[in-house]
Amino acid sequence: MTQTAATDDVAIARRAYYERIGEHKLTPLWEVLHGLVIPQPKSACMAALWHYDDLRPFILEAGQLITAKEAERRVLILENPGMPGQSRITTSLYAGLQLILPGEVAPAHRHTQSALRFVVEGSGAFTAVDGEKAIMEEGDFVITPSWTWHDHGNDSAKPMVWMDGLDIPLIQSLECSFMERAAEDSQPLSKPVGDSLARYGAGLLPVDYEPQSRTSPIFNYPYRRTREALETMRRVEAWDACHGLKMQYVNPATGDYAMPTIGSFMQLLPKGFNGERYRATDATVFSIVEGEGYSMVGEERFDWVKRDTFVVPSWVPYSHHAPKGDAVLFSFSDRPVQKKLGLWRESRGNR
Ligand SMILES: [Fe+2]
Repeated sequence: MTQTAATDDVAIARRAYYERIGEHKLTPLWEVLHGLVIPQPKSACMAALWHYDDLRPFILEAGQLITAKEAERRVLILENPGMPGQSRITTSLYAGLQLILPGEVAPAHRHTQSALRFVVEGSGAFTAVDGEKAIMEEGDFVITPSWTWHDHGNDSAKPMVWMDGLDIPLIQSLECSFMERAAEDSQPLSKPVGDSLARYGAGLLPVDYEPQSRTSPIFNYPYRRTREALETMRRVEAWDACHGLKMQYVNPATGDYAMPTIGSFMQLLPKGFNGERYRATDATVFSIVEGEGYSMVGEERFDWVKRDTFVVPSWVPYSHHAPKGDAVLFSFSDRPVQKKLGLWRESRGNR
């Protein structure tokens, strides 16, 4: 018998064996192992960039096609081109751009998915969470914690657009999605505007305060304050070679991330910044708050301006550059989950 014939015999025997064990709901690990346990992350998530100027006409057009109430949430999903039809921007996170027109209401509901809102355009619309209204301005970072009632409205004279970031795919894979709609579109308000920020965000906590959830008790982290902090800190000139000056949003009661499943960050790149290469296992979504510049993501160059969004997949090296002037970048990822599980890794430079 030739060697080829012997190999064919083995292949035929194995196939027949796989078919027989398949009838018993069994399958051989050795045929799939190399795809399951891989030497380093290899994601279906692709690097991608969305220019806001290209998207804005489509977002406003949606405002003529469907009301916020009819849509429940009028959002265009920023869908990763590597995972079409899956409503996700990274493997674990969802992102979209939501439009609220003057006078509209996005009715109250609650769900186990945690959400962040990052205000991209407009001023004066609100998100109500747990009986408190947060008036939103550009650059504000707003949280609707898991299982809290929330509704959105716009009492201003102009459209407002914000980026939604949710842990939808993560909750989907864990199969713990619950959702309820409220009887009324707008929830009753029980607290004054700014209550949570005053109570928990002034470097103070109510005496005897015990956290009631894993999410920050602050609903709105105003950009005005974030920007002021960055501007004051820059005077020390202590720039990180990869990140410039990068801060993370925290839960003031625990020091942990502001949300249990999503880490959120704000960073300042000074004029002339040429960042070194960096990579981490948390695929990250960036939204440009101020300025213009570019990022190298793998071999691709993404030129960005204010309000653009781009995504960097897990473990792909990237660097930020701001040749023309200061730039400010907001970003979010699933880093808290990876860190809690002891899985998160990063590497700097060419290592
Ligand atoms: Fe919601």
